[in-house]
Amino acid sequence: MTAHILDGKAIAADLRIRLKARCDERAARGLRQPGLAVVLVGDDPASKVYVGSKRRGCAEVGIASYEHDLPAETSMSDLLALIDRLNADPAVDGILVQLPLPAHLDENTVIQHIHPDKDVDGFHPINMGRLVQRLPGPRPCTPRGVMIMLEHAGVELAGLDAVIIGQSNIVGRPMALELLNARCTPTVCHSRSRDLQAKVARADLVVAAVGRTHFVPGEWIKPGAIVIDVGINRGEDGKLRGDVEFDSAAERASWITPVPGGVGPMTVATLLSNTVDAAEARDGG
Ligand code: GUN
Repeated sequence: MTAHILDGKAIAADLRIRLKARCDERAARGLRQPGLAVVLVGDDPASKVYVGSKRRGCAEVGIASYEHDLPAETSMSDLLALIDRLNADPAVDGILVQLPLPAHLDENTVIQHIHPDKDVDGFHPINMGRLVQRLPGPRPCTPRGVMIMLEHAGVELAGLDAVIIGQSNIVGRPMALELLNARCTPTVCHSRSRDLQAKVARADLVVAAVGRTHFVPGEWIKPGAIVIDVGINRGEDGKLRGDVEFDSAAERASWITPVPGGVGPMTVATLLSNTVDAAEARDGG
């Protein structure tokens, strides 16, 4: 079997066209551009690349992007003061603080300081709680982007056994909730999980979010399974590779996401979507 490719680059481009239409329609009604504040602390090279693509995405769809590049030594009080200003700024609909933060800054405190209505990452405990309880609210971008890709594939999710490898707040945990809400049966695996291979081999849907190149051998994949690779690992040769051995997995899977060009572009497009949603919600729809 040779898998169909879940083309995140194309699905994200399509989503951006629809977001641009929503921004244009706002402008035609005399409403302001949606605004996204992107806060980057320090100069982690990978974070700089991600933040750059978020800012380019804003420009493409018609979101005003406000850049806040702060030095690595920024104090907690200065960062919280900036978030206070952004929370109060009527031009800002969404606030994104790129993670990871330098070690002296506590991520939970920072996330909880962002007003939940402007939390376009969906990381605030109020928004995570909304996801748990199936209430509307901004949802974490990577899992939401994966769900949009799965909708595009047109696969029936109800009843599938899903295995998620990775239990992070950003991907693994909200991914499990999204899949549960779609009536899958999710299993979240982590470094202490026993016999990972056996769990993956039973899965109809595998989401790999480990951050280690080719952590999942293709032979583990059940024939016909859907494989979603969240890993973006840069090799010493400068090339990006996923958490799954793509070539051998694609021999067995029914659908598979490539790296690059799979989940990554969807994460950014979903962030833009959350920002337009936040602007519309503030203006009463
Ligand atoms: N770092 C890695 N992924 C993300 C994300 O989705 N949002 C933020 N803010 N930081 C990240």
